[in-house]
Amino acid sequence: MVAVPGDPLAPDDTGDSDHPVVSYVLRVNGVDRAVEGSWIGESLLYVLRERLGLAGAKDGCSQGECGACSVQSDGRLVAACLVPAATAAGCDITTVEGLVDHDGSPSDVQRALARTDVECGFCLPGMAMTVHDLLEGNHAPTELETRQALCGNLCRCSGYRGVLDAVQELVDERAARMAASETERRAGDEWETDPGADPADHRTDQNTPGGEA
Ligand code: FES
Ligand code: FES
Repeated sequence: MVAVPGDPLAPDDTGDSDHPVVSYVLRVNGVDRAVEGSWIGESLLYVLRERLGLAGAKDGCSQGECGACSVQSDGRLVAACLVPAATAAGCDITTVEGLVDHDGSPSDVQRALARTDVECGFCLPGMAMTVHDLLEGNHAPTELETRQALCGNLCRCSGYRGVLDAVQELVDERAARMAASETERRAGDEWETDPGADPADHRTDQNTPGGEA
């Protein structure tokens, strides 16, 4: 393989023409990870799991059919089993491990799905990526939209009702949190313009039938 200036792929002398290997850097969950001496045909799923030790993405079919291996590449949901890892050099990869909050605790998406009454749970990491991806672009999906988003994620033992309900609960929780923080923000603004005002008065108005909108 010939090196191209600026190309993130580096040819590796340890391969041969029948088995070319390359070294490159994958940016995964915000961290640059070196991949060395990798056969050029290795899938992103294989590299994540077997070379980088990120076992969150699951290998359900290796054929792009089940969604268990879903990750985001530059913000787009992809089946990692179908992506040659070397072609992802230079892309921003997010795996289910990368969904955690800043303090390392599970995200609200992960917590919502963990509350569902599932059997084996094998499908859940892929579903978490799909739900995360859906809610990034649509803050209030209808059930039909959630079903359409999840149509590429196969669950063989629990079905989808619990996941659909979990997504709706999550959407409601986020909306409630956003409304509460907006109320706080408005109360703070009011206090800044009139330091004598009690921010609690504003909160009370918001929650009192007939109070100010
Ligand atoms: S393992 Fe990739 S879609 Fe099934
Ligand atoms: S819970 Fe087993 S595949 Fe979904």
